[in-house]
Amino acid sequence: MRLQDKVAIVTGGGAGFGEGIARRFADEGAQVVVNDIAESDGERVVGAIRQAGGTAFYCKADISLGPDSQRLIDTTLARCGRVDILVNNAGVPQRNMPLTELDEASFDRIYAVNVKALYWAAKYTVPVMRRQGGGVILSTSSTAANRPRPGVVWYNGSKAAVDTITKGMAVELAPDRIRVNAINPVAGETQMLAEFMGGQVTAAMRERFLATIPLGRFSQPLDIANAAVFLASDEAAFITGVCLPVDGGRTV
Ligand SMILES: NC(=O)c1ccc[n+]([C@@H]2O[C@H](COP(=O)([O-])OP(=O)(O)OC[C@H]3O[C@@H](n4cnc5c(N)ncnc54)[C@H](O)[C@@H]3O)[C@@H](O)[C@H]2O)c1
Repeated sequence: MRLQDKVAIVTGGGAGFGEGIARRFADEGAQVVVNDIAESDGERVVGAIRQAGGTAFYCKADISLGPDSQRLIDTTLARCGRVDILVNNAGVPQRNMPLTELDEASFDRIYAVNVKALYWAAKYTVPVMRRQGGGVILSTSSTAANRPRPGVVWYNGSKAAVDTITKGMAVELAPDRIRVNAINPVAGETQMLAEFMGGQVTAAMRERFLATIPLGRFSQPLDIANAAVFLASDEAAFITGVCLPVDGGRTV
């Protein structure tokens, strides 16, 4: 068990990569706080973890909002007494479209969930980890951060912010023994995929995209979860400030 007795918060843990991370963390012995804005999804993942013998509870919060973020940390402390691992995974996509066509509300939402949530999470989690003598912060970025493609310009920028924030936090928080890393998945088989492809994924679109991934498939939640277990575990004790592509060679 590589995360035995660690207390881990996974935001956006009700679906996709976050669900994969929450389940793998629980398999490795972590107590998992499954956060999601979608209650039924969060509760479903908690049910699946408990069914498999793991420990988890659901906490509803919109992580783009300061009071919600604070409540997520406070609830975790009240129930588990500490926060060892925070996974900033929740994110929202940009529907594929010309860059001048995205409306302001969608732009603001992308930056509120993908970027500002990291600010709130740091504000409320870092003091706790400092008091504890250390911790791990992990964020789900994207290959969009360092290989921006057309049609998702504003999303690309939000994930580039995640990478730069990750590196800055890593050096600033290293004296506190708080490690900060990111994972950069290539397009994954989750509900988000259709948005990146303009609303639906046709067979031709799949083929075109897959041709750009040397290992020849989309990422799966388990790929991201396995990388997250490693980076969150003590096996990665000397790794901080890394933005790890999990991309089948896409960004080579
Ligand atoms: N799927 C991809 O192709 C892909 C590729 C690279 C990176 N990513 C990133 O991976 C992360 C997870 O994406 P996914 O593909 O699993 O998507 P998903 O839509 O399957 O899951 C995202 C989850 O986050 C939740 N969520 C959204 N906004 C929230 C908020 N404000 N507060 C709390 N929860 C919220 C949603 O309800 C959903 O359950 C995101 O950060 C995304 O940008 C996805």
